Amino acid sequence: MDTPQQTVSQLIGGYWAAQVACAAASLSLPDHLAKGPMTADDLAAASDAHAPSVKRLLRAMVSLGLCAQEADGRYALTPEGDCLRVDTPGSVRGRAIFIGEMLWHQFADLTNQVKTGENTKALLAGAEGFEAMKDNPAQLHTFQTAMAENSRTAARDAMGVYHFGRFERVLDLGGGFGGVLSELLKAHPNQTGAVMDLPFLKDGAEAYLKAAGVEGRGRFIGGSFFEAVPAGFDLILMKFIIHDWGDDQSRTILKHCRAVADDNTTLALIEQVVPDVIAVTPQHQAVIRGDLTMMGIGGKERTAEEYRSLFAECGWRLESITPSGSAFSVIEARPVSGPAPPSRVSCARPSATSPCRRPSRAATPASAWRGTCRDRPSAWVRPCSPEARRHSRPQNSSQDSDLPAEPPKLDATLRVRVRAGDPTRPPAGTLSALTSVGAVVRPVRRTPPPFTLK
Ligand SMILES: C[S@@+](CC[C@H](N)C(=O)[O-])C[C@H]1O[C@@H](n2cnc3c(N)ncnc32)[C@H](O)[C@@H]1O
Repeated sequence: MDTPQQTVSQLIGGYWAAQVACAAASLSLPDHLAKGPMTADDLAAASDAHAPSVKRLLRAMVSLGLCAQEADGRYALTPEGDCLRVDTPGSVRGRAIFIGEMLWHQFADLTNQVKTGENTKALLAGAEGFEAMKDNPAQLHTFQTAMAENSRTAARDAMGVYHFGRFERVLDLGGGFGGVLSELLKAHPNQTGAVMDLPFLKDGAEAYLKAAGVEGRGRFIGGSFFEAVPAGFDLILMKFIIHDWGDDQSRTILKHCRAVADDNTTLALIEQVVPDVIAVTPQHQAVIRGDLTMMGIGGKERTAEEYRSLFAECGWRLESITPSGSAFSVIEARPVSGPAPPSRVSCARPSATSPCRRPSRAATPASAWRGTCRDRPSAWVRPCSPEARRHSRPQNSSQDSDLPAEPPKLDATLRVRVRAGDPTRPPAGTLSALTSVGAVVRPVRRTPPPFTLK
């Protein structure tokens, strides 16, 4: 039995193991060792590194069980070290590099974050951080590879407890390279789906979907969920998205989801739910570690009650929280009937030659519909009907807590796909969602590719 001092020393001594795993993975030592036992010199040559230092790193790996030393002095891979290989099933190589190169700096800033309540100073946080990866392909690859690795495991855990097979069309919103979507499509041959993420992820995501063998049924849609969410899916799935953001931004995302939802739409989040009472267990540690990670970038892990009230403010009703075998849960929500609460539905500038007006639906063989601002280009639109206003306001509150004091700029266009078989109408719920925020909906004559967001 360890003394308290030994226990704490062990806890705080975890620092070096994280960096040994990161260095080994970055130098691809486990990948080289997969071909068979090798000497330190051969490994140094294969990884283009300093031989005496490689030998010392290998000794560290032996002491951590990541490889073993043979009688002749060569090094051999262990099952644990094999997990750091790039193409091993269940690989955690990307995660090791992500922790060693990115999270490491963020956590070194923890004291300052707690003292000031500010985001990390080590990395660009929030939207800025995600957007900045556009100019840093190596960081983008490290981050998205780590996410996709984690997603594969999370998706399998989630499929063990939640019936994803009943959905025909799945939108993996903020899906990165598509780790979750590809697992779902592989498990359900009749399912189709799309990953929506920032446009610069296109190449990486398409390559990933192709490598997973699902490119025929899974596609990539570039766009921002702060602008709009594509319509036409019966499951909107988000893994590790809402936890990235504070409540205001989360409401914007959830309201955009609600704007394209009809009675048959299900919203499912794969997230870690903060337990009401914390215990010393690996699962609880994973949730709380996640919360501190999110604290650095302006997001948070939430309790069941926090999810319930966040959903309620956005026109969703929390239906169930299904824990999986790991730290993740599947959080299911369904639309509350009635008009969707107001969201920042994107508005296009009405031009002089094409004034905003409601279309004659019966006469218009439209293939897409566009929400345009009624009379003020780039204006903040508030809900126009008393019912929609009620919907937007939390009970017991006298204010629209989610409406910013200053009008935001609205400068994009929302397009929604028309359901097959009824080309004259937008999907149920979409029209009322748009009109409830003061938008006028009119048909777009040109046929856009399905699911296109402009
Ligand atoms: C924590 S990662 C989760 C990725 C993926 N869901 C997973 O778990 O593997 C957050 C994702 O949100 C995406 N993202 C950030 N801002 C976005 C936006 N405005 N619109 C769409 N996706 C966005 C990021 O590019 C990133 O892929």
